[in-house]
Amino acid sequence: MRDMNKQHLVLGITGGIAAYKAAGLLRLLMKQGYAVQVAMTDAACHFITPTTLQGLSGQPVYTDQWDAGTPNGMAHINLSREACAIVIAPASADFIAKLANGLADDLLSTMCLARNCPLLIAPAMNKEMWNNPATQRNIAQLLSDGVQIMGPDSGIQACGEEGMGRMLEPELLAQLIADSFQPKLLAGKKILMTAGPTYEAIDAVRGITNRSSGKMGYAICQAALEMGAEVTLVSGPTALRAPFAAEKIDVQSAAQMFDAVKRHVAACDIFIAVAAVADYRVAQTSVQKIKKSAAPLTLELVPNPDILAYVAALANPPYCVGFAAESENLAEYAEQKRLAKRLPLLVGNIAQQAIGSDDNELILFDDNGIHFLPRADKLTLARQLMLYIAQQGALP
Ligand code: C5P
Repeated sequence: MRDMNKQHLVLGITGGIAAYKAAGLLRLLMKQGYAVQVAMTDAACHFITPTTLQGLSGQPVYTDQWDAGTPNGMAHINLSREACAIVIAPASADFIAKLANGLADDLLSTMCLARNCPLLIAPAMNKEMWNNPATQRNIAQLLSDGVQIMGPDSGIQACGEEGMGRMLEPELLAQLIADSFQPKLLAGKKILMTAGPTYEAIDAVRGITNRSSGKMGYAICQAALEMGAEVTLVSGPTALRAPFAAEKIDVQSAAQMFDAVKRHVAACDIFIAVAAVADYRVAQTSVQKIKKSAAPLTLELVPNPDILAYVAALANPPYCVGFAAESENLAEYAEQKRLAKRLPLLVGNIAQQAIGSDDNELILFDDNGIHFLPRADKLTLARQLMLYIAQQGALP
């Protein structure tokens, strides 16, 4: 069934060994909130089955122009009218040649010709096929027709040869596709941000940390990149993969996070502190594992520096955004925190609902008052938050 709240994409798969990666790309696009309709050429069905893509997308997969199941017999028109873009991944040399010449001899090529939305393609082929002047002519034609070409990459190919022609990895494709839809409201802006928990060592193997997953921070990183910002992500330990285009700095402790922020803050226009920084660290960490004994063990904890407060108090601070996760009295505590740390914007959320979960709801506190971002997945919220930030007149 069509979900009218989601943006629709058509994912076209053509015949090439990289077709197996289309399943991964499909998953990533769905995770980003798109409803994806898959259409495959005959050749693609030799490399990956429509059943796999149907199972993953939750939609019937279109393979046949003459399928009697489409009520008006015009799947090529219907599908492209509902889509905000058609993505062809992998795009074979043969399919690229068809596109460049306006051929329409199967469902996918007919759909591309009949479309009224952007077309993005991810070429994948042997290096000689890619370097062939015919392919290069076709690519030049597609570029001048306004088609977005993603890749290819160079490296070891399925045939064992090495060179240009590998399809870009699904993670990078998903990022490029999402980027292509966002208005570049943050182009030229440099964003420094912190995300995830910190880990404060007790001894060689034990430490103090918290349950922050990093999901909100990483979603904000992705949303900022989509809007054209350059992002440096200082991240505590998480199980997440950072968006490809981010400059990621891995840290463990609050002290390391503080060092990394101090090194990069001068260059940034916006600082977003999403990390759940430990308030305390152990005064004396032990290099060796502390031996168990029957006697009680007392650890002395000393406060960590407040990274956000430090940045906000700089002589010429970037636009600072803080987060507050409270378990009660959110509005009161959040506004107190915003004023105490002298932040133009503070993002509040209820700790019990936010930590580790895939969705959340946010309340923005600034000089204009309170602004609600209702419950949604974290990437949707991150995009709304970044849009709000981009629209602030006070940005440097
Ligand atoms: O005061 P509290 O820890 O609740 O403030 C939360 C906000 O301050 C978050 O934006 C968090 O990333 C930031 N923070 C920080 N350094 C600390 C503690 C919190 O940057 N040591």
